Amino acid sequence: MVGGKAEDAGLRTDTIRAAIRAKYAEVAVSAAGKFAYPTGRAGAEALGYNPDAVRQAPPELLESFCGVGNPFLLAEIRPGAIVLDFGCGAGFDLFIASRLAGKNGRLFGADLTAEMVRRATENLSAAGVTNYEVTKIESEELPYHSGFFDVVISNGVINLSPDKQACFRELQRVLKPGGMLQFADVVQEDDLPAGTSDSPEAWSQ
Ligand SMILES: C[S@@+](CC[C@H](N)C(=O)[O-])C[C@H]1O[C@@H](n2cnc3c(N)ncnc32)[C@H](O)[C@@H]1O
Repeated sequence: MVGGKAEDAGLRTDTIRAAIRAKYAEVAVSAAGKFAYPTGRAGAEALGYNPDAVRQAPPELLESFCGVGNPFLLAEIRPGAIVLDFGCGAGFDLFIASRLAGKNGRLFGADLTAEMVRRATENLSAAGVTNYEVTKIESEELPYHSGFFDVVISNGVINLSPDKQACFRELQRVLKPGGMLQFADVVQEDDLPAGTSDSPEAWSQ
């Protein structure tokens, strides 16, 4: 059999992920000029991040920041918390989480794009964060035990997932019972023009 439905869906997903990786490999160098909303330091300031934290963050940590909201406004992160940043990008939100979770906390980042994983690792080490681990992932399947995290944060990522049900299933699986999912994202309010949802360019704008 050639070109079955499942194969088509797999091909579509692979094409979308490849387009997203190509875009975010560039953003890992700098987010400047690549989005229709403020990014970098201006983005963090506009989104109401703690001004002291923004001031103290090394410039490299902010250079590729392209979050769409502020997950830290949704609930408190307690000292000692085990935190996952799903789609951690270059590590700015992990840096913020590390200030809240403290030395006894544990910070984990997962991202689809190798260049972002490298950038986050360099940035967090340069910022003096030691209790972190950043992992490149290939799909929505997460490499963590069930019930491991106190908090999952995510910022501008779930809208990029071609399989949102799998995404939410996995995020719920890795959270402890009673754990918090704190995410900021983009939502669709109106119907999309025909052909948009299958366009790799539209997914990676
Ligand atoms: C808009 S950026 C946000 C990055 C970071 N959260 C921030 O606020 O700067 C989206 C990030 O999600 C990653 N990404 C996209 N789809 C993903 C997926 N399905 N799973 C994990 N990461 C993904 C991209 O590689 C990119 O680093």
